[in-house]
Amino acid sequence: MTFDTSQHNLRMTHFDQHDSFWLFGYGSLIWKADFPFLERKPAWIHGWCRRFWQGSHDHRGTPDAPGRVVTLTRDPDARCDGMAYRIRPEVLTQLDMREKNGYLRELVPVHFDAQQAVEGLIYLATEDNAAFLGEAPLAAMATQIDLARGPSGSNRDYLLNLEQALRELGVVDHHVSALAAFLPG
Ligand code: BEZ
Repeated sequence: MTFDTSQHNLRMTHFDQHDSFWLFGYGSLIWKADFPFLERKPAWIHGWCRRFWQGSHDHRGTPDAPGRVVTLTRDPDARCDGMAYRIRPEVLTQLDMREKNGYLRELVPVHFDAQQAVEGLIYLATEDNAAFLGEAPLAAMATQIDLARGPSGSNRDYLLNLEQALRELGVVDHHVSALAAFLPG
């Protein structure tokens, strides 16, 4: 697997003939919606939890000093809350470029309430991608995040923006809040 997953993602044509579909955002997509969408609403997915285990060499770090950004890891009992966007298929080309550092398109059921789920899409960075960093002690991850900076800004702001966006949604994510608490003041 190369760093740049954008070409690989073009082969995932599942939604190409749809008028619109739901994209579930669990990281920067929650607060940085710099793409056209038809509507958005809070949503969640089951069986996944959010972790700062993906390296960012292109947005919140550099190849020499990568930052850490979120991906999802499987946990059968977990629920991951975020924001869903109804988008048109052509928007994916733009998102594939934004999320090209190891993220692949993946189908998931997206829930808006306990009764209703729709087929949606996430960008997922699995542990076999070249930019995957994996787990590390919280203090070490927080130090890395505190120091890293890339073309999209500081890694620290990424973490704090995510923490604030989750708070505004009324979501408690212990991994995110524990990391934010470890950031030097
Ligand atoms: C997200 O917010 O869902 C997301 C953002 C960047 C890469 C992958 C996922």
